Amino acid sequence: MKYCIANWKMNMLKADAHSYFTKLKCLINKDKQFNEIKMIICPPYTLVDFIYGGFEYLLDEGTFYAQLGVQDFNPNKDGAYTGEISINMILDSSSIEWAIIGHSERRSLFKESNEFINLKVRAALDNGIRPILCVGETLKERETDKTEEVLYYQLKHSLLDVSCTDKDFLIAYEPIWAIGTGRNADNDTIESANSMIKSILKNLKYKIEKPKIIYGGSVNNNNAKNLSKICNLDGFLIGGASLDADQFYAIYNTLKLTIGD
Ligand code: PGA
Repeated sequence: MKYCIANWKMNMLKADAHSYFTKLKCLINKDKQFNEIKMIICPPYTLVDFIYGGFEYLLDEGTFYAQLGVQDFNPNKDGAYTGEISINMILDSSSIEWAIIGHSERRSLFKESNEFINLKVRAALDNGIRPILCVGETLKERETDKTEEVLYYQLKHSLLDVSCTDKDFLIAYEPIWAIGTGRNADNDTIESANSMIKSILKNLKYKIEKPKIIYGGSVNNNNAKNLSKICNLDGFLIGGASLDADQFYAIYNTLKLTIGD
C-alpha cells in the first residue's frame, strides 16, 4: 500500500472544495480503479463534514481508497482551550480516519513541543485515528550535519510510550527547507533519511511495527515520477500541489506506476 496525502493547510472554501471533488470524480471515473494507493485528503476542519456529506460516495467507492484526515487537533477531550478542536470533536465527525501531527508549521509557528506532539500521537492511537507524524530538519541543521541527531530527538520524544502494531502508522520525513520552497530533497537525501528513521526506531526499541515512511516537501507533478523511484518510500505528503485536483491526481497516478497496474 502506498499513500498519497493532500495537506490543504489554511486554504479552500466550500465552493473550492466542491469544484475540486467534482473534478476529482471525473478524473477518477476516466481511469481504471486501483486500490493499492490510499488517497487521503486533509482539508481545513471547517470542510470535513461538507466534503463527507457531498462526496461520501466518492470516498467510499470500495474500489477507490480515499479517506479524510485533519491537519491537527488538541489531545484534550474538552475544556478551556479557546479556538482548539479536541480529539472528541474529531471523533464526533465520524468521517475522520487520519491526523497530521507535528507538522513543521505547527512546531515553528505555534511552538509545539515534542512532548505535546507525543500527547497527540497517543490520543490519536487510543481513539482509532491514524497518525501521520511529521519530522525533519532545518537547512542549518542539515548543513551542520545534525540531521540524524534532530530526527533522533524528535522521534524519541514524540513517540515516547507509544506502541502501535497498525501498519498504517505513517512517519512523514519533511525537511523544513523543502516545504513550500519549490526545492525538493533529492532521492539520495530522502533515502538516507528514511534509513536513519528506521534505524532510530529500531534502536529506541519502540513498539512501532513496520512504520511506513513518506516524503513531503515541494512534491509536484514534475518531480513525483523521479521521487517515486526511491525504493524505501511509501508515498507523499503534498501541500501546495495538492490544491489543484489535476496536479494532485497526476501525482497519485505517478505512484500507481511504482506498483504496476
Ligand atoms: P509543500 O508542503 O508540498 O507545499 O512543500 C508540504 C507539507 O507542508 O506537508
